Amino acid sequence: MAQCQNLELIRLAANQLNTLPTWLFTLPRLSWLAYAGNPFCVSSSAPSSLAEINWADLTIQDTLGEGASGVIYKGFWTTSPTQTVEVAIKVFKGNVTSDGLPADEMRSCMAAGTHPHLVKLLGKISHHPDQKAGLVFAFVPSSYQTLGYPPSFETCTRDTYPPDTQFALSVVLRIAQGIAAAAAHLHSNGILHGDLYAHNILTNAEGESLLGDFGGASFYPDHNPAIAASLEQLEVRAFGCLLEDLLDRCVLDNVEAQTKLRDRLRCLQQDCLKPEPSMRPPFAAICNVLTALTRSHA
Ligand SMILES: Nc1ncnc2c1ncn2[C@@H]1O[C@H](COP(=O)(O)OP(=O)(O)O)[C@@H](O)[C@H]1O
Ligand SMILES: [Mg+2]
Repeated sequence: MAQCQNLELIRLAANQLNTLPTWLFTLPRLSWLAYAGNPFCVSSSAPSSLAEINWADLTIQDTLGEGASGVIYKGFWTTSPTQTVEVAIKVFKGNVTSDGLPADEMRSCMAAGTHPHLVKLLGKISHHPDQKAGLVFAFVPSSYQTLGYPPSFETCTRDTYPPDTQFALSVVLRIAQGIAAAAAHLHSNGILHGDLYAHNILTNAEGESLLGDFGGASFYPDHNPAIAASLEQLEVRAFGCLLEDLLDRCVLDNVEAQTKLRDRLRCLQQDCLKPEPSMRPPFAAICNVLTALTRSHA
């Protein structure tokens, strides 16, 4: 497999690997990797401050989405006799999926902590009648929609979009900035998202964005700085693919004033997609470029 020069996505989670093969990091196109739940993985303990939310205090309403790992419902959490809050409730089916195990998804989601561009985790479910595991998130209003749809058999690894999809340049810039900031936060905490895709991002019309779905996430396997850098470089390529999707569908409302900014974003995208992983910028550098572009655009 070390010869698979076109390999872009691989799921190795919930296996019996004693080491993470380092040849993975030589693959020029690898962008989406999941490896949690293997003997070589350190199991990071979840922060104890996370609330346990009694199933009895939750009211389930409509289904918001269903994936292989679980079902997400809209609902309410009764936090006191006089107060309820709108929430999204993810109840795991309990099975192994192509992305891994629910327990690993829960651990990385909890370890990710809070960030303005991550879907906010409120707590984990306790006392489920069928002992199912689950997480409770702040409800993201319907003014936010998923940015893209999962890949098809034709696109293979790339997300799909309705044919008439268009993004304003200011929206592209804002989404890129938000998601790069979220990814920088995850990597500074030793977490690889593993599924950095438009279909796991909720955005509104202004380009405010929230990254979610830790189903493919993995912890850095150890404190080896070379492996840490390689894992980040791999996810930077996923970010480059996302930026390419957005720029391919970008419309300029003022060609003269916006061409330069669009070209700069194209350069950033190309840097993120470089076949030699060590030539790609880390997320902190990407954030700096995007901040500078936002300032010059204002
Ligand atoms: N906090 C939330 N508020 C509102 N909708 C949400 C929330 N979290 C997830 N969703 C909806 O549920 C869908 C599936 O969530 P996701 O975490 O990606 O689960 P899956 O593992 O099934 O892909 C999302 O695409 C989104 O439409
Ligand atoms: Mg998802």
